[in-house]
Amino acid sequence: MRVFITGIAGFVGTTLARAFRRDFPQAQIHGLDNLKRRGSELNLSLLKKAGVEFYHGDIRCPEDLQAVDGNFDLFIEASAEPSVLAGAAGPGYVLQTNLVGTLNCLEFARKRCGLFAFLSTSRVYSLSPLRALSLEERVSRFELSSVQRFKGVTAGGISEGFPTDSPRSLYGGSKLASEIIVQEYANTFGLNVILNRCGVIAGPGQFGKVDQGVYTLWVAHHYFGLPLKYTGFKGEGKQVRDLLHPEDLYKLLRLQIASKKVTAEVFNVGGGPENSISLAELTALCEKAIGRSTELSSSADTHAMDIPYYVSDNSKVREFFGWEPQISVPGIVEAIFRWLKENEASLRPLFQFPPSAESK
Ligand SMILES: NC(=O)c1ccc[n+]([C@@H]2O[C@H](COP(=O)([O-])OP(=O)(O)OC[C@H]3O[C@@H](n4cnc5c(N)ncnc54)[C@H](O)[C@@H]3O)[C@@H](O)[C@H]2O)c1
Repeated sequence: MRVFITGIAGFVGTTLARAFRRDFPQAQIHGLDNLKRRGSELNLSLLKKAGVEFYHGDIRCPEDLQAVDGNFDLFIEASAEPSVLAGAAGPGYVLQTNLVGTLNCLEFARKRCGLFAFLSTSRVYSLSPLRALSLEERVSRFELSSVQRFKGVTAGGISEGFPTDSPRSLYGGSKLASEIIVQEYANTFGLNVILNRCGVIAGPGQFGKVDQGVYTLWVAHHYFGLPLKYTGFKGEGKQVRDLLHPEDLYKLLRLQIASKKVTAEVFNVGGGPENSISLAELTALCEKAIGRSTELSSSADTHAMDIPYYVSDNSKVREFFGWEPQISVPGIVEAIFRWLKENEASLRPLFQFPPSAESK
């Protein structure tokens, strides 16, 4: 098996590459990354140790992809500018990467790859209805009320039927546009595609920032004793997300690759209701695990792109592929703590000195 992964030095890309190598020692894993994400450079030694062929390149440049040798059974597009706040200072990078870059990857894949897997995002869903969900306020979190105004939302979470109209964000919009183009490549060229709309992915190897990867950042700040702030929705940390470990995403990809049911349909993929947690609950979990608290402030101001609640309804992907996430939130938190402990010296500066505003 030959696998090509873009964004291979990123959080998900590195995890997938190493998992394929672990389970298929004969497989040839190649990948490309421009190392834009701070911290990705730390993964290069892990990739080298795993025997991965690394290309330092940029998906915005078709010639960087053309420089790659050979054909592949599977292409995983895991590169992106993944921040929902990206593009506020200028949309060039996020659109060139998340949209034009995906197109370059598709052109490569239709000529040289058997199957194209695209990692989309729950951020394709419309912000206004997400912000207008009917919620009940509990002691430590928001919960969905039993009656909702919008289609695609039940006690099981947000399903593929939820509105995707504007407004979203440049990130969500660029990913939704890419999803559509991926589907048209399937229709027009017969390219086999997998389209997974992922909720929050968290775990070891994520170089979390306030605007992306905040759950891993939360755990890291507890570990390093760095300050944290509950922001928005009255500043009490009651906003809820479901967390998915990338190893569970890998297991799903294995099932999808092996399945005869690969179509150009979209699947919501996340931790699901059982693996949902609020920031306040995550604080309690971290404090229990580490035996101390960290400085915690609060701001009631809610950012225009922020949402109080998102939990993936995995019903469709469960029905199609018999997949369920296996790694619980405490398991994810424990794995992050372990990673921080084992790599303390190199990771401390990353979390202590966050990237400057323009690189967010
Ligand atoms: N992490 C999440 O919570 C989450 C949720 C939903 C979807 N996703 C999607 O999963 C994929 C992987 O995300 P991640 O969490 O690993 O992000 P990441 O930032 O850790 O990894 C992305 C990698 O892509 C690289 N990259 C950025 N621009 C590039 C370019 N123009 N050319 C080549 N490489 C480039 C970065 O350097 C980085 O190493 C992305 O497509 C993202 O949109 C992530």
